[in-house]
Amino acid sequence: HQSQILAGQHVVITAGPTREAIDPVRYVSNHSTGKMGFALAEACRDAGAKVTLIAGPVTLPTPQGIERIDISSAQELLAVCLKVVNQGCDIFIATAAVADYRAAEVSPHKIKKAGDELTIQLVKNPDIVATVAQQEKRPFMVGFAAETQHMEQYASSKLVSKKLDMIAVNDVSRSDIGFGSDQNAMTVFFAEHYHLSQQHLDKASKSKIAWQLVECIAKAQSA
Ligand code: C5P
Repeated sequence: HQSQILAGQHVVITAGPTREAIDPVRYVSNHSTGKMGFALAEACRDAGAKVTLIAGPVTLPTPQGIERIDISSAQELLAVCLKVVNQGCDIFIATAAVADYRAAEVSPHKIKKAGDELTIQLVKNPDIVATVAQQEKRPFMVGFAAETQHMEQYASSKLVSKKLDMIAVNDVSRSDIGFGSDQNAMTVFFAEHYHLSQQHLDKASKSKIAWQLVECIAKAQSA
């Protein structure tokens, strides 16, 4: 790696799934492993940045030289993100697979087996990256998206609706990349005012993709 392209910057990264409690022993979650976020944390550190990694329940070891804060639910994730961002950070990277919904009410006791059907009411979780982008001290905002079709169209509408500077989209219709895989391929889109054209990152290890994403961030920052 040629250089310290993020020297002196503080990067905050969200990673992994969130876990939304239903009762004291059950939850709603997803299969995110956190690999992409952890690879980005290492790449940002190698680029000279100070890194805070806010992680949901994952089995990955904490990379050397990185501050890690563990969270469980989306609401906890939001509270920690707002605190860290409002203390001051330069770049915010949202790789977390935040559960879209949580139980409307968390039962204080284990729900007992009863009838043949059980209905659990879910309510929408806050959008972490969109909320951070609305803060007064708004960092450079990077989001991710997993799409199966119309990548460019969905990417540009998410850039605008979530107020992002950059979005990396992966094509989840391909089974050889993405979720749980050690490899990934992405297309990066920048907010219109940067006047940067989209960049395709060919299939490679998540650590190589992470370094290329860091280069994209540095390029946009100096555009
Ligand atoms: O809207 P969608 O889930 O496709 O957006 C994905 C991007 O938004 C990712 O960067 C993800 O980390 C972030 N996100 C978030 N909070 C949510 C949902 C998504 O930060 N509640």
